[in-house]
Amino acid sequence: MSASIVTNSESRDLLRMERVGAHSHIRGLGLDDALEPRASSQGMVGQLKARKAAGVIVRMIEAGKIAGRAVLIAGPPSTGKTAIAMGMAQGLGTDVPFTMLASSEIFSLEMSKTEALTQAFRRSIGVRIKEETELIEGEVVEIQVDRSMTGSSKTGKLTIKTTDMETIYDLGNKMIDALNKEKVMAGDVITIDKASGRITRLGRSFTRARDYDAMGSDVKFVQCPEGELQKRKEVVHTVSLHEIDVINSRTQGFLALFSGDTGEIKAEVRDQINTKVSEWREEGKADIVPGVLFIDEVHMLDIECFSFLNRALEDDMAPVVVMATNRGVTNIRGTKYKSPHGIPVDLLDRLLIISTVPYSEDEISKILAIRCQEEDVEMTDEAKDLLTRIGVETSLRYAIHLITAANLVARKRKATAVDVQDIKRVYMLFLDEKRSVQAMKDYQDQYMFNEAPSSTAMAVDAPMEM
Ligand SMILES: Nc1ncnc2c1ncn2[C@@H]1O[C@H](COP(=O)(O)OP(=O)(O)O)[C@@H](O)[C@H]1O
Ligand SMILES: [Mg+2]
Repeated sequence: MSASIVTNSESRDLLRMERVGAHSHIRGLGLDDALEPRASSQGMVGQLKARKAAGVIVRMIEAGKIAGRAVLIAGPPSTGKTAIAMGMAQGLGTDVPFTMLASSEIFSLEMSKTEALTQAFRRSIGVRIKEETELIEGEVVEIQVDRSMTGSSKTGKLTIKTTDMETIYDLGNKMIDALNKEKVMAGDVITIDKASGRITRLGRSFTRARDYDAMGSDVKFVQCPEGELQKRKEVVHTVSLHEIDVINSRTQGFLALFSGDTGEIKAEVRDQINTKVSEWREEGKADIVPGVLFIDEVHMLDIECFSFLNRALEDDMAPVVVMATNRGVTNIRGTKYKSPHGIPVDLLDRLLIISTVPYSEDEISKILAIRCQEEDVEMTDEAKDLLTRIGVETSLRYAIHLITAANLVARKRKATAVDVQDIKRVYMLFLDEKRSVQAMKDYQDQYMFNEAPSSTAMAVDAPMEM
C-alpha cells in the first residue's frame, strides 16, 4: 500500500457547486458568540431552542470533545430539521467533514446496506495529515541553458541565492521544462519542492523593482529570502478515511472518487488503512478529525441498519451522527414492533434529542420573505400576506414551492412583481397535502393500486416489503 495520498480538493469544489436549492438560503445557525440564537440571522428564523442546541453540538465537535455521539432532530414535517442540519454543516470548519445521507439511499446503491453505511461513516472521518517537505527557496540570479546540437536534450545551470548564500544547481531536461513553463527568469523568487520537483513562483524580488518599471501592474514583489536555501516546511491537509480507502483499494484507484462509483471496499484494505492511520497518529504525523454524518428520514432505516449503528457508534473513530425524523410512534422497519420515531429503544437511549416545533405566522412570513430574496422574486405585500396565510394553513414547504411557480405565472403576464392573482392561480393549479388527500377520497376509484375495498384494482406483483 502506498503511503502517498492524493488529496482531491478540486473534486470537492466541483461537488459543492451550488444552485438555488431548498436550503441555499441557510448560511449558518444564526447564533452569536455566546451561542444565543438571533431572531433572524444567516437565513435562519425562529426555532430558537433547537438552533441553540445544534450550536452547542457544533461547538463540542469543533473542540474535538465528542465523537461517536448521536443526535436526533425530531419534529413535524417542514419545521426546519434538514435546515438546521445544513446550518450545522456551515458552522463547522472547512476541514471538518460533513456527509449527508438520505436513508433510502442505503437500499438503492449497488452494495450491501452495511457497506453503504460503513462508507458513509468513513466519509465523515477526516484524517489531518502533516507532512514535511524539503524546499529550495530563493531568488533566481541566472538561468543558463545549453542545447545539444539536435535540440533534443538540454542541460543547464540555475544560480539561486538568499540574502546569505548563493548556490549553483545543475538542471536536467525536466527542470528546464518546468522553469520554462512557469516563465521563471532572473529576479524571480521561487520555491522548488525537492520531492516532486514542482516549481512555484512567489513573485519578483524587491531588489529588481527599479529595473522593471515597464512591467505590468499585476506583478507581485516579495523580499529575497533570508538564511539557508534549503528549508523544511510543514504542510497540512485533510482527507477522509473513505478517500484513503478508495485511493488505496487496488481495483478502484482515485478516479473512482470523481465518478462516485466506488463499489464495495475489501475489509483487508480498511484494516490496513486503520493500522497505517494509527501508526501515523502515534508518530504525530496525523490527527483524527471526527466529522458529522447526517442521516435524514432515519425512520426509513431497518432493524439491521439500526443494530449496525449501535455497534459503529462505539468505534473510537466514529463521527458524530445527526439523524432527523418526522415520525411519531411507528413500525421499526423490518420488524413487527412499534417504537417512538421507528427507532429501536436501545438506539434511542443513546441519542440526544432536539425537537423542532411548528412556526408562528410571523416566522413563516419572515422565512417566505427570505426565500423570495433568495430566488430573486419581487412580491407585493398583499401577495406575501396571502402566501403567509397559505403557509399557516397548509405547510411552510408548500408555500415556499409556490414562490417559484407564482413568479413564472407573473412573468408570463409580463408583471414585474408577483401579485395576489398569481398566488391564487398557482394555489388552484397545485394541490397541497390536505386537498390532495381530499382528492384521493373523492376520486380513488379512478386510480391504480388503491387499497380501498370498493375498487377493482389491477393484479400486481407482491408489493415491496415496507
Ligand atoms: N428556521 C428556518 N429558517 C429559515 N428557513 C427555514 C427554517 N426552517 C425551515 N426552513 C426552510 O423551510 C423549508 C422546509 O424546511 P425543512 O428543513 O426541509 O423541513 P423538515 O426537514 O423539518 O421537513 C426548507 O426550504 C427550509 O430551508
Ligand atoms: Mg427534511
